[in-house]
Amino acid sequence: MDFYPMYIGGRWVEARSGQRFTSVNPATGQILGEVALGDREDVQAAVEAARDAFDAWRRTPAPRRGEILFRAAELLKRRKEELARELTQEMGKVLTEARGDVQEAIDMTYYMAGEGRRLFGETVPAEMPDKFAMAVREPIGVVGAITPWNFPIAIPSWKIMPALVSGNTVVFKPASDTPILAHRLVEILDEAGVPPGVVNLVYGPGGTVGDAILAHPDVPVITFTGSNEAGVHVNTVAASLLKRVHLELGGKNAIIVMDDADLDLAVEGIVWSAFGTSGQRCTAASRVLAHRAIKDRLVTRLVERIRRLRLGDGLEPDTDVGPVINSQALERIHGYVEWARREGATVATGGRKVDEGPLARGFFYEPTLLVDVRPEMRVAQEEIFGPVTAVIEVGSLEEAIRVNNQVRYGLSSSIYTRDVNGAFRAMRDLMTGLVYVNHGTIGAEVHLPFGGMRQTGNGHREAGRAAIDFYTEWKSVYVDFSGRLQRAQIDIPQPSS
Ligand code: UN1
Repeated sequence: MDFYPMYIGGRWVEARSGQRFTSVNPATGQILGEVALGDREDVQAAVEAARDAFDAWRRTPAPRRGEILFRAAELLKRRKEELARELTQEMGKVLTEARGDVQEAIDMTYYMAGEGRRLFGETVPAEMPDKFAMAVREPIGVVGAITPWNFPIAIPSWKIMPALVSGNTVVFKPASDTPILAHRLVEILDEAGVPPGVVNLVYGPGGTVGDAILAHPDVPVITFTGSNEAGVHVNTVAASLLKRVHLELGGKNAIIVMDDADLDLAVEGIVWSAFGTSGQRCTAASRVLAHRAIKDRLVTRLVERIRRLRLGDGLEPDTDVGPVINSQALERIHGYVEWARREGATVATGGRKVDEGPLARGFFYEPTLLVDVRPEMRVAQEEIFGPVTAVIEVGSLEEAIRVNNQVRYGLSSSIYTRDVNGAFRAMRDLMTGLVYVNHGTIGAEVHLPFGGMRQTGNGHREAGRAAIDFYTEWKSVYVDFSGRLQRAQIDIPQPSS
């Protein structure tokens, strides 16, 4: 059986306790390997290593740091196919989507490699003669990166690459459902030449390993992607220690389909956004706001299309939708569908766990379309994180926008329309961090800010230049080369009146 150790101070190590856990293929139930189960002492060692490595890494010229990331990007690219296959086995998403996950990591790593030659600051004219004024970016210190299982290599790269190019060091705790992909990413960083201690990997549960990172006084920065419940906990603990925190939490994303939409396009966008990754994306479309004039036609077509989706092991070439991550997820998703039935929604298709045949060894849920859903129902308000989407009828663009905005989350939204005026109104009024026109709610690119409004997060953004803002501090520097005492504010020449 393969064994996946932790990586601390540049060495691959067992957990101090010697304990291990297993990683399981959610499509087959097969055990993929044994993984070191870390606890507080392992975190302590990892933080010490990261703290000790910080000074030399901070002083390594940023273009050199970028070159190391560039080598990591080359390695990711070369290994894309094997990484994608392993990702499908560990996380379940179909192979084409697993390739996309790896590709996002490749894109982010190249992008951040390039930032090594930018990391732009600002220069401004000084108020006084013979004085120079500028603001430079500085790394902050040890970054604690706590990542989810739904993008096992992309999301860690969104956090680790900008942190590293900015000159921070990292303690990385991946989700316990996907440790092997985290292991692969760290192997690649090691091979690319990241010095010992600059990236450290500790596996284990949020309640021990996550909390130890959170509460550690030498970890001033925390970046977390996961549930709102856990996000509130992260924020609360970090607040008392005045840490800088980035939170990327839930979504309840909607696709608006107007009466003039290209319905073929809309159906494909909905199916891809709702059932891709088995609906386990923060950006998944879990609501369809359908204009009254086309709603029945849209539902008929969606039902017909959804029934043709083939559930199965993501490694099989004819599979459209893979498993969900584990048995608790399966129960939670089914609980939402049952609740929706009790609240008066109708299951147009799907609505069942697969508990017979070969798929019963894994965790499979039928792609599900709910109709007769009202905006205030639980199923239309709460994140489900599974292959379930709910159709809500609306009478106008204004109503669609209102319903879109009346949820606690604000990550992604989309509108299908041919009316350019309506599209621009939607772009202005949809209160989400991502807005798509004539495209589903998923597929964000790595060079624009990624994140959401309201309770999807806490205002920070990942990806693009915005990520660099999170991982750096500003330092304003004034150089007086006049050789005499100049007193700002007092000596500034005033225009005579
Ligand atoms: C997520 O689900 O947390 O836009 C990230 C998308 C992907 C990233 C999703 N590029 O759907």
